[in-house]
Amino acid sequence: MTLVTNRTLLDVAAGAGFGVGAFNVADLTMAQAVLDAARATESPVIVETLAGSHPHGSDPVFWAALLRLIEGYPEVPVALHLDHGPTFETCVRAIEAGFTSVMIDGSLDSSGHPASFADNVAVTRRVVSYAHERGVSVEGELGTIGGSKDGTARAEIVLADPDEALAFVAATGVDALAVAVGTSHGAYKFSAPPDGPMLRLDLVASIAALVPDTHLVLHGSSSLPAGLRSRVNGSGGAVPSSWGVADEEKVRAIELGVRKINQGMDHYLAYTAGVREALAADPASVDPAGYLAAGRESAQRLLEERMVLFGQAGRALLYR
Ligand code: 13P
Repeated sequence: MTLVTNRTLLDVAAGAGFGVGAFNVADLTMAQAVLDAARATESPVIVETLAGSHPHGSDPVFWAALLRLIEGYPEVPVALHLDHGPTFETCVRAIEAGFTSVMIDGSLDSSGHPASFADNVAVTRRVVSYAHERGVSVEGELGTIGGSKDGTARAEIVLADPDEALAFVAATGVDALAVAVGTSHGAYKFSAPPDGPMLRLDLVASIAALVPDTHLVLHGSSSLPAGLRSRVNGSGGAVPSSWGVADEEKVRAIELGVRKINQGMDHYLAYTAGVREALAADPASVDPAGYLAAGRESAQRLLEERMVLFGQAGRALLYR
């Protein structure tokens, strides 16, 4: 069995000073791209998924298939992580299904507004107690990471506060903490090129110094490369221009203490580019086997580059 907890995966990464990509997967071919990239680069990896955000119709069906797929990669250290668990009950479902790490996102209330610190602590502590009794790691979130899936209705960014981070970790016992330091989720991040650093790296450094045993997580880390957008748009897409986090800022964040780097949109773009190019090259094609494989291979290439950038490539042997 290749599954490990995020605590184990990230403790080793912290000891050796590298970052680990946590890559969102929306279906099995994408999960295979992540695992194939990890195998090819000899990387530990975090496969993460959002409840309900896949085409398989049922979380239990998709999650069981993910676990079965991971079994086929015995040489890859893998944590299976629930991204942005919205409630205690969702986290319990993932833990019962076999996830080795869950995120409880108590940063927003049920109407999508920033939750109170006390409410965030209460739900996070409840999940930590349940998860730790079962040997599962927990990630909490402080501050709110903005963003939107379609470029409209952006959630506001509320930056994490170092003193609150210290109090939050002490009160909850989380293994990992998502800190809002200026990124936002999605394929529509910033509508103009940044005229300076995008991330508040000073906040990363202060929080890392205050909570040295808690692994910091950078959400919304996609770079949104223009080249990928051109490939999508050159084969029938219409993705507007947008700017994400520069590679150098991610590397600097890892040097300052970020350990888990969440990325979805960049390999979603690469996947979509591969699918669109295959369909454009053969407009009569109606067999998903061919064009989905093209998407998987395109995503794998991008994922391998990121595993090298984050420093996890070549580190799988540290877990043997
Ligand atoms: P992107 O939306 O930048 O790909 O980040 C994904 C993420 O943070 C998932 O939690």
